[in-house]
Amino acid sequence: MPCPDQPFVLVCPTFADGEGRGAVPKQVIRFLNDPGRRALLRGVIGAGNRNFGMTFALAARVIAEKCRIPILYRFELAGTPTDLQRVRDGLDEFWGMTCLTP
Ligand SMILES: Cc1cc2nc3c(=O)[nH]c(=O)nc-3n(C[C@H](O)[C@H](O)[C@H](O)COP(=O)(O)O)c2cc1C
Repeated sequence: MPCPDQPFVLVCPTFADGEGRGAVPKQVIRFLNDPGRRALLRGVIGAGNRNFGMTFALAARVIAEKCRIPILYRFELAGTPTDLQRVRDGLDEFWGMTCLTP
């Protein structure tokens, strides 16, 4: 289990059933069940597949709502080189404007 000791952004895939149940992987739920880790979470990036329609990257939406943090980006599968560049640039910008103290 990762034990972050500074603010972090979570990248999370969605593995839901056809109804959107179980979208957040169990391992991620276990990770976020710890209040100390939750307190350091600043944003979420969702991975998914648009073939799933309404549940595309649903895990990111669930986590954002429950933890009251923003969805910073969503991408499909492993992401394209463009996604990668956007995430890198976006995170640089995000950490530049985010207060790192809790
Ligand atoms: C059983 C299963 C259910 C999935 N359900 C969803 C879903 O509801 N919404 C979605 O956006 N992607 C869904 N996906 C796609 C995965 O989120 C996507 O493949 C993953 O983000 C990329 O990781 P991978 O490269 O390991 O597949 C599902 C994939 C599997 C295997």
